[in-house]
Parts: sequence; structure tokens; C-alpha cells
Amino acid sequence: MKCTLAKNYYKDNINIEYIKQLGKEKSEGNLNKLLLFYNGIFPLDIKREVVSSIGRQQNDKKIYEFIMKEGFKKTYMELVYQMFRTTLYRSGKVEFQKLGNRLLSFYDNEVMHKMYEYFLYRKNPKLLNVKKKKKIIKAILLKGDSEQTLLKIQNKTIQFIFTSPPYYNTRMYSDYTSYGRYLKKMCSILKQCNRILEDGRFIIINVSPVITKRPGREFESVRYPIHFDFHKILEEADFYFIDEIIWIKPEYTVPNRIAGYLQTGMPLSYKPNCVTESLLVYRKKTPFLLDENIKCYSRMLANAVENTDTSNCWYISPKTDKDHPAVFPEKLCEKVLKYYSFSGDVVLDPFAGSGTFGRVAKKMKRIPVLCEANNKYIKKLEEENYDDF
Ligand SMILES: C[S@@+](CC[C@H](N)C(=O)[O-])C[C@H]1O[C@@H](n2cnc3c(N)ncnc32)[C@H](O)[C@@H]1O
Repeated sequence: MKCTLAKNYYKDNINIEYIKQLGKEKSEGNLNKLLLFYNGIFPLDIKREVVSSIGRQQNDKKIYEFIMKEGFKKTYMELVYQMFRTTLYRSGKVEFQKLGNRLLSFYDNEVMHKMYEYFLYRKNPKLLNVKKKKKIIKAILLKGDSEQTLLKIQNKTIQFIFTSPPYYNTRMYSDYTSYGRYLKKMCSILKQCNRILEDGRFIIINVSPVITKRPGREFESVRYPIHFDFHKILEEADFYFIDEIIWIKPEYTVPNRIAGYLQTGMPLSYKPNCVTESLLVYRKKTPFLLDENIKCYSRMLANAVENTDTSNCWYISPKTDKDHPAVFPEKLCEKVLKYYSFSGDVVLDPFAGSGTFGRVAKKMKRIPVLCEANNKYIKKLEEENYDDF
């Protein structure tokens, strides 16, 4: 009988707006109707609205019984999230607080944990307000291992981080005794980055897979998927995934791996030329939405939206440099600074190399903080008007 009623309503063009309206107008009749709809056959987005509208009604007892009955049955998580949301907004009442806790431990689900943290923050935003920090007002060069030198920077004083770390042992400036030790070191530096980054702000890591030389013709070379492993260590350092932007280079600029296959055409010997690198975009874990970060700035600082990169594929030629073997093209730095920082922000590159990021940041009226360990590059950077710390 219930399903028939719901089906009739469906025929009568029940849509999300209609369900929302039922939620807004609080009455026993509307609540009963919504409870009936919950068992009807509707698309998931309508059912989600049904659960949300049930939560907006007034009869605590019926709402509590509904969640107790339906919340622990096998159903779509989208619906459970709405039930959990209701328990949060009614958590002033002990029975809903307990019910919410039960749902949270029953599902132990990451979205629900995040909802819980957001909810606590919204109730008491001051929880995150830490003591006043000294703003960095001049470009700084930190000389030495960034795991150590970053210790000089106060918590939460950086607004954006962009960097390209050593790609394991591909260049002379790094020589780790194992890939595991390399990742451990990178993770320690990322943890420092997390500490000094303002809540909710972005870090972007430019990496790509690398291959080691074969120790002899009888041995296979080892290929390392560095970008996959960086996901793990970024999470360990308390960042979460936002996007992957693919930097695409012209094919003639990258090493040729396809020649062997083109000679023989033998399946299994196929090795495509690698024209892409990843820009891993992550955000510092924070219990508030991005709007909170954005609203700290004047609308006057908005970008002009002509010529926006609308997809996650960015076509940029690589750059070569006589002194450094792996420099950023300026264009790459310009784009990330434009999309992920505001004028006046303090921006960090913990593996600065020749300092491309710092130069572009200055040009774009940001305040760069650079770290570099190699004396040859430090000497060059010292010519560029940076303060010591
Ligand atoms: C891929 S390069 C960065 C190049 C830079 N994006 C540019 O445009 O020139 C990585 C740099 O990190 C430096 N480096 C490696 N390990 C470091 C560490 N632990 N602390 C600071 N710098 C480090 C290397 O000397 C190298 O110059």
C-alpha cells in the first residue's frame, strides 16, 4: 500500500523542490508523508531529500525512531549521512547525541568523521584560534636541509606551498641509500610543511615516475611510481587529496623510449614516451570549508577570468638551465600562484633549486620563502635579495 502511494506521487511529478517544501512546512501530516515516502521507490537524490526533510520536522520521538529503525540497516551511505546530520543538529538532546555516536562508531566512515569535525568547529570556531603569529614580511632564504631549516618558521604562517622535490636519485643533488629512506625523508619534510601552513591552505607537489639505470644487461631497471607513493606520505603528513593536474610537454622534449618497439613491433616491448608530470594538489586537513579561507581576502584581489585553464591538463614546454638540471618553467609557477594564492601571501618552496618559484612569486607580489641545501645553488640565490632567518 505504501509503495502504491509513493508511486502515485511519483506519477504526480514529485521532485526535490516538492520534498524540500514538505521539510520546510513543519506539521505532523508532512512528517507522516515523508516517512511514507522513505519506503517508496524513488531515485536516490529524492530519497536523500526525504531523509533531510524528515530531520527538519519537529516530532523528536518519531524522528528518533525513524533513525533508530533505518540507520543501522543496509542502505545507501548518502541516506545514512543525512540521518547522521540530523543527529548532529539535534545533539542538544542527549538521546540524539547518543544516537549520533552510535552511528559514527557503527559505520566508522571518513565522511561522517569529517562531518563531526566540521560540526564541532561551526559550534565553536574559536577552538582553532591560536595565539597571534608574526607575519613574514620579507623574502627569506633558508640554507640547508629543509627538514631542519623549516623549524625556524612559526606554525601556520605560510599560505601556499609549491615544490618539486628530488625525484629519488635521478639527479646528482640527491643520493638516498634506499627508496624507503627517500620516502621517509620526504614525509618528514611534508610534516614540517603541514605545521607551518595555514589551516585549509594548499600544497602542490610536482613529481613523476622515474626509472633507475640497469646495473647490467642481465638486470631489469626499476621504475618507481613516485606520485602514487607521495599520496601516502601526503596523507600521513595530514593533507588530503584535492586534484591531480597533468603537466603535458611536447613529445620532442622528452627522452625517447618508443624507438625499440618501433623497430620490432613486438608486443610487450611497448614503452610510450612520457610527456606528463603530475601536480598533486592537496589541502591541509581542516574542519572548515574553503569559503572560510577565501573570505579573509578582498574581492578586489579576484583574478580576471579570461584565459583561465579550464581543464586539469596544462600544456607547457619544459625549461632548461645551464646551472641546474631540473628547473620549473616560469609559466607553471605563474599558474599555480595565480590559482592557489593571493597577492600578499607568503609562499614556500622547500626544494628551491635555482629559485624559479621565488622569482615568479616576487613578480606576482607574493612573499617567497625558499629552502635549498646545495651550496652551488645557494650561492646563486644569495645574489637575489633574500634575507637570512
Ligand atoms: C627538483 S630540484 C628543484 C628545482 C626548482 N624547482 C627550480 O626551478 O630550480 C630539487 C632541489 O632540492 C634540493 N634539495 C634536495 N634535498 C633537499 C633538502 N633536504 N633540503 C633542501 N633542499 C634540498 C636539491 O639540491 C635541488 O636543487
